[in-house]
Amino acid sequence: MIILGVETSCDETAASVVEGKGESVKVLSNVVSSQIEIHKKYYGVVPEIAAREHILNILPVINEALDKTKVNPPRLARREPPLPRRGIFSTTPKLLLQKEGRVLDAIAVTTGPGLITSLIVGVETAKTLAYVWNLPIVGVNHIEGHVYANFIQSQGTVFGKPPPDPSLERRGAFPALILTVSGGHTMLILMKGHGKFQTIGDTRDDAAGEAFDKAAKLLGLGYPGGPAVSKMAAEFTSPQTHPVRAARPPLLRGESLLKGEGVSVPSPFQGEGQDEVKNRIGQVILPRPMLNEPNFDFSFSGLKTALLYKIQKDKDWQNKIPEYCYEFERAIVETLVGKAVKAAKKYQVKTMMLAGGVSANLTLREEFQNAAAKLGVACHIPPLEYTTDNAAMIAAAGYFRARRKSFTPWKKLKADANLEL
Ligand code: KG4
Ligand code: ZN
Repeated sequence: MIILGVETSCDETAASVVEGKGESVKVLSNVVSSQIEIHKKYYGVVPEIAAREHILNILPVINEALDKTKVNPPRLARREPPLPRRGIFSTTPKLLLQKEGRVLDAIAVTTGPGLITSLIVGVETAKTLAYVWNLPIVGVNHIEGHVYANFIQSQGTVFGKPPPDPSLERRGAFPALILTVSGGHTMLILMKGHGKFQTIGDTRDDAAGEAFDKAAKLLGLGYPGGPAVSKMAAEFTSPQTHPVRAARPPLLRGESLLKGEGVSVPSPFQGEGQDEVKNRIGQVILPRPMLNEPNFDFSFSGLKTALLYKIQKDKDWQNKIPEYCYEFERAIVETLVGKAVKAAKKYQVKTMMLAGGVSANLTLREEFQNAAAKLGVACHIPPLEYTTDNAAMIAAAGYFRARRKSFTPWKKLKADANLEL
């Protein structure tokens, strides 16, 4: 089954063509037009500007996604054979189609959650194409899309090892726990089967990506904040820049996090915000919010405020930005992984998966994988290119919906900024 995916929920205009077979999805093309450069100067996405850019970009992006594949919309497939012509005009879509024999089966589009003015551009474009091409349409939840990035057949490697055959490994993957972390969401999702989602934890205020973005703004690092903070954090432990620090055994890494051992110092988890932890890398200590509370919710707004108070009290903070970034990143990663581990244990999951833009964070990827290995649970982490917003994940989710005939008549399809999973 061949699906065209369309995604415009925030500031990326994206289109992708995927082919789904059985349990796995192969990407035939994946085009993302990012507006990051445009929104950078505002330190965040400006909805009105995002919507205008989507309008300009959406058709060229969809065209490019189709062009890269030789897959045709069905309307072209139904064309009568052309009159014989000479030269370049003799290669018509009809002839291409006969050669390749591939036709789109459905269109999948993000209907929410997201910025309403951005969502509408994708939804109305997809509806128009569905009408013109007479194709069924599938509405996809953006979060569901992030989750399904895990079902895309990976061509790369995962930490240097070839990825396992997804179709084999995913037999018996459920129940799965998905830690979904993006600019707008921080959720722990229990997935009992395709399309069967239960949200077991959510953020009470700022999402993890939003916290990264706000921290970067405080530290003057630009937008988007996640990659900027992460790059600085890596500098703090890099053997080139800080040989002495890098030589120390890393504390509070995945293993110690799980077992509560391997640290010769009191764990900062035991008292949020305590400043007395000694002998660890760096002197800056930030809280691990809500880590010890008996629920699976998150709250990262206080962490950003804790960072603000620290730098307000520290006259030398501008010379210690890598250290602040390191501790901020560790605070977020340890909180996310710590809660995911508790949830994985409680719900006895068979697989742990990561999803969302923040899952591009290398420290999080490593710690999450370590944690799953320690629990003896299978682990899936999407290839980097499918972590931040893209349409391949929407098309992948669309494929699994189309398989169970979860279509919406185009006339009834609507964008919903607050769509729930
Ligand atoms: O999923 P996404 O592309 O858009 C939303 O649906 O929100 O996620 C964007 C978020 C931003 O907040 C960005 O700072 C964060 O993902 N992000 C990262 C990294 N790359 C992107 N956060 C931490 N580390 C990264 N390497
Ligand atoms: Zn997203």
